[in-house]
Amino acid sequence: MQHSPKSAFFQYLAQTSPSPMALEIDSAEGNYLTDRSGKRYLDLIAGISVCNIGHQHPAVIAAIEKQIHRHLHVMVYGEVVQNSQSAYGEMLVQYLPPSLNSVYFTNSGAEAIDAAMKLAKRATGKFGFVAQENSYHGSTQAPLSLMSDPYYTDPYKPLLGPVYFIKQNQTDQLDTIPWKNIAAIIIELVQAENGTTPAQIEYIQRIQELCTLNHVLLVFDEIQTGFGRTGSLFAFEQYNVVPDILILGKALGGGMPMGAIVARKELMQQFASNPILGHITTFGGHPVSAAAGKAAMQVLIDADLKKSVASKANLFRELLVHPRITSIQGMGLLMSVGLSSFDEVLQVIPKFIEKGVFTDWFLFANNRFRICPPLTITENEIRTCCQIILSVLDEMSK
Ligand SMILES: Cc1ncc(COP(=O)(O)O)c(C=O)c1O
Repeated sequence: MQHSPKSAFFQYLAQTSPSPMALEIDSAEGNYLTDRSGKRYLDLIAGISVCNIGHQHPAVIAAIEKQIHRHLHVMVYGEVVQNSQSAYGEMLVQYLPPSLNSVYFTNSGAEAIDAAMKLAKRATGKFGFVAQENSYHGSTQAPLSLMSDPYYTDPYKPLLGPVYFIKQNQTDQLDTIPWKNIAAIIIELVQAENGTTPAQIEYIQRIQELCTLNHVLLVFDEIQTGFGRTGSLFAFEQYNVVPDILILGKALGGGMPMGAIVARKELMQQFASNPILGHITTFGGHPVSAAAGKAAMQVLIDADLKKSVASKANLFRELLVHPRITSIQGMGLLMSVGLSSFDEVLQVIPKFIEKGVFTDWFLFANNRFRICPPLTITENEIRTCCQIILSVLDEMSK
């Protein structure tokens, strides 16, 4: 007898926590998810900053269909010319500063971070790293080394290192780092899983100065902040600082799996010689992901979706006023709402979902819930979902 999808999920799929949401998704379109009973949910998660142009955009579906009729996987990354990869690489570079002119496509964000750490060791001859407390860069062993919380890392030690942790925006702390031993510093300009906390401009600019002085590579992890989410195509544009290495993922693939390292050609060439095959991957830059990602980026640009991000974010901020809300923080539509405790968040999230608003909490800020919808969310949808959020908070107060 075949199990229902939900019981097969619990019986045959490995779990990542004792209590997954386990909402049974049947389909998704635009800014909504639909479950097996036909109930619709306004999506405030966007697949964790993946679905920036909404779900099932016709241009993305058409690009995927076109690509699957040409070819799927043909050869490992880097050996044969695959039109969808080359075209997407060219497009990305056109929208980046001249020093970010070479793209290496990977399968995931974690793989891109891992490869960037390898590249930094190779280019500098050093092996120390600096990362921010409460940042998340992925779950494989190299990015896990950049995670500060021992609850998540201790069971997997030894990891890579040494890794020195700094607190976001604590510019004074930067002077305590032994920069001469550091290969790279890895920074999220908005620490997404820390509850969407933005970096200050002076802090980032000081980091860049220290990197230049000490031959340290500056790596920006724009896996969540990229592709319009913060109001500019990439968040670094708002800081006037260009990194040595830019890491992309999530929305990069337009709903298909993909990550990328972007750097200057001479730096990236290190992977190609002495030893050759410095980083290789079978599926990195999968042709269908590249076709989908390029189509999604084209939609983002043609519709200029980044333009309305600030006003949409402001509308959320204006409407979400309630005695139970302690703060709203973030940059653009990478936002979070604070309540007084994790317990409170755990109580309200199922109620939001019951009323058709899909949100969740953060790895390192469990007293907050997520407001990271597709950038296509409309003013009316924002009003409706804020009403629902406020009504649930009202009920809690009764
Ligand atoms: C900022 C950031 N970096 C890296 C990653 C890892 O990406 P992936 O899950 O594709 O490996 C994530 C995933 O949530 C992320 O949010």
